[in-house]
Amino acid sequence: MLIPLIFSLVLSAFSSVFSAAEVLRFSSYYGNHMVLQKAPAKAVVWGFGQTGAKVAVSLSGSHKVSTHSVPVINGIWRTTLNPVEAGGPYILTASQSTTNTSVTLTDVLFGDIWLCSGQSNMAFTVGQLINATEELAMASKFPDVRIFQAALEKSEKELTDLAGVEVPWSRPTAELLGGKEFSHFSAVCWLFGRYLYETLKYPIGLVETCWGGTPVEAWSTPRSLHKCGLKSSMTSVPYSPPPVQRYFSGNISAKWRSSVLWNAMIHPLLNMTITGAIWYQGEANADYNRDEYNCSFPAMIDDWRMAFHEGSDGQTALDFPFGFVQLSTFRQNDTLDGFREIRWHQTADYGFAPNERMKNTFMAVAIDVPDIKSPWGSIHPEDKQDVAYRLVLGARAVAYGEKNVSFQGPFPTQAMLNQSFISIVFNQDVKASLDKDFFEICCSEDKKCGSDNNWLHVPIIKYCLNYVFVSKPPCTAASITAVRYLWTDWPCPFKGCPIYSSNGLLPAPPFILAITKP
Ligand SMILES: *[C@@H]1O[C@H](CO)[C@@H](O)[C@H](O)[C@H]1NC(C)=O
Ligand SMILES: *[C@@H]1O[C@H](CO)[C@@H](O)[C@H](O)[C@H]1NC(C)=O
Ligand SMILES: *[C@@H]1O[C@H](CO)[C@@H](O)[C@H](O)[C@H]1NC(C)=O
Ligand SMILES: *[C@@H]1O[C@H](CO)[C@@H](O)[C@H](O)[C@H]1NC(C)=O
Ligand SMILES: *[C@@H]1O[C@H](CO)[C@@H](O)[C@H](O)[C@H]1NC(C)=O
Ligand SMILES: *[C@@H]1O[C@H](CO)[C@@H](O)[C@H](O)[C@H]1NC(C)=O
Ligand SMILES: *[C@@H]1O[C@H](CO)[C@@H](O)[C@H](O)[C@H]1NC(C)=O
Ligand SMILES: *[C@@H]1O[C@H](CO)[C@@H](O)[C@H](O)[C@H]1NC(C)=O
Repeated sequence: MLIPLIFSLVLSAFSSVFSAAEVLRFSSYYGNHMVLQKAPAKAVVWGFGQTGAKVAVSLSGSHKVSTHSVPVINGIWRTTLNPVEAGGPYILTASQSTTNTSVTLTDVLFGDIWLCSGQSNMAFTVGQLINATEELAMASKFPDVRIFQAALEKSEKELTDLAGVEVPWSRPTAELLGGKEFSHFSAVCWLFGRYLYETLKYPIGLVETCWGGTPVEAWSTPRSLHKCGLKSSMTSVPYSPPPVQRYFSGNISAKWRSSVLWNAMIHPLLNMTITGAIWYQGEANADYNRDEYNCSFPAMIDDWRMAFHEGSDGQTALDFPFGFVQLSTFRQNDTLDGFREIRWHQTADYGFAPNERMKNTFMAVAIDVPDIKSPWGSIHPEDKQDVAYRLVLGARAVAYGEKNVSFQGPFPTQAMLNQSFISIVFNQDVKASLDKDFFEICCSEDKKCGSDNNWLHVPIIKYCLNYVFVSKPPCTAASITAVRYLWTDWPCPFKGCPIYSSNGLLPAPPFILAITKP
């Protein structure tokens, strides 16, 4: 009689010490309808509990059951599940011995998790798309593409868990996908997941964590900023935008402290196993640390990779695939707004991705989908279908290793001066239109090509297989130094750039290249 009494007294004294924060639960981004990373990787699962207790985590499906028992240390328990093939649904239960409580997640699928981040063109919702009605009507046909969205939060220090959730793990519905403008759910993220599902035919989990108007510095750690000579804390006052301006401020400049979004919206997610990430950002750096973006962006990718790998105990690949959208267009007739430089810097100044500096990346070119009439401002083109389609081609080739998927437009390998013309050799056959003059040649005896005054427009005179020939400008052969292509913010009309892949689908990205002489 006495022993159980003492035992229960001890137990109640014991539990009263613990606050509500130590009630057994999963961390904020584990929920019903979620997708966990499928085999061969192992999904990491973690949550909160009573320090000293043991938590048993069990996974049960139609024919498979596994249980892991783990201790709660400093209020946190964590386990790595055995690898599970794509499919479901499963039930995931965590039970804590001391309190005899358990929490259960139902309708859990295994598939590939993709993180979607960046600024307003990533936040841009399915409801804002061109053909939104059709896209929203299709949503419920893809119940295995699941969505989750982190709330907009900033923090001065690294958070363990998300401070808020905008959309808990859900099956897609028209209401969730077409929520309030720039709130939920990301069109690029959703279309990427849906197109990918159509190829892979197994569950896809989409984790949206993005915020309009934000520079790359806000998403970067101090350690990666230091690598690029950038200060790790900004001296400006923290920016709290009025609601209308919350997602994009027409004045592109950084009002964000460095690392605040890394701290609040990326760091908490590191412990989740993911397949890869996609990113649509750069506008906010067009006039803010623009010349450093060729360092800060690749450094952020490296740093995220290292951190997700470490945070998942090695389950997320150290070189996980990272896709991004090269900036589209903003201002017509403007060469000085920084977009052309940012596009180039997005590729670490290679012009294409993947490249030596940015391995295992892929890029969707968007320069040929300008949108002067966008109701959301010209900086937010309404056509995200093309962008997402191009990203998925990149993912299929780079992330999934499909051998015969072409995902890159033509890129030049050499430009040569001939007697009367300049020939540009591409890495693949091209389809070109002759009546455009989007090529410029730098004529400068002392190779001063930094000034726009030294660049002369020249027309394309013919093309054949992988060669494009442009006119020689009226200057001396000795002064002819370099060629550049699409080197303005807004060079072409919709789908009207001069050079595409031979099937007409993939535009040549902007480039700048030295001219060799015979
Ligand atoms: C634990 O909970 C189960 C189910 O509610 C109950 O049957 C059992 O008696 C409880 N055990 C203790 C020690 O409270
Ligand atoms: C929008 O719908 C029209 C009519 O079906 C179609 O021609 C067009 O290609 C669609 N646009 C996009 C970007 O999907
Ligand atoms: C943009 O913001 C900066 C900093 O607040 C300010 O100095 C600048 O004048 C603004 N530019 C425009 C075009 O509003
Ligand atoms: C980045 O671009 C700037 C400005 O064009 C240039 O000075 C610098 O050398 C580039 N850095 C890297 C790492 O490419
Ligand atoms: C998540 O990963 C970070 C970075 O490796 C680590 O500091 C943190 O302790 C991990 N959190 C949990 C709950 O395992
Ligand atoms: C840009 O230039 C074109 C051609 O000169 C003109 O038709 C267009 O209206 C200009 N756009 C703006 C926004 O000034
Ligand atoms: C890739 O190859 C397969 C099988 O040969 C073919 O069915 C498919 O159409 C090809 N895909 C592309 C994009 O060329
Ligand atoms: C210029 O190009 C033509 C046609 O490709 C070629 O026949 C000729 O040899 C070239 N001349 C020089 C100087 O490279």
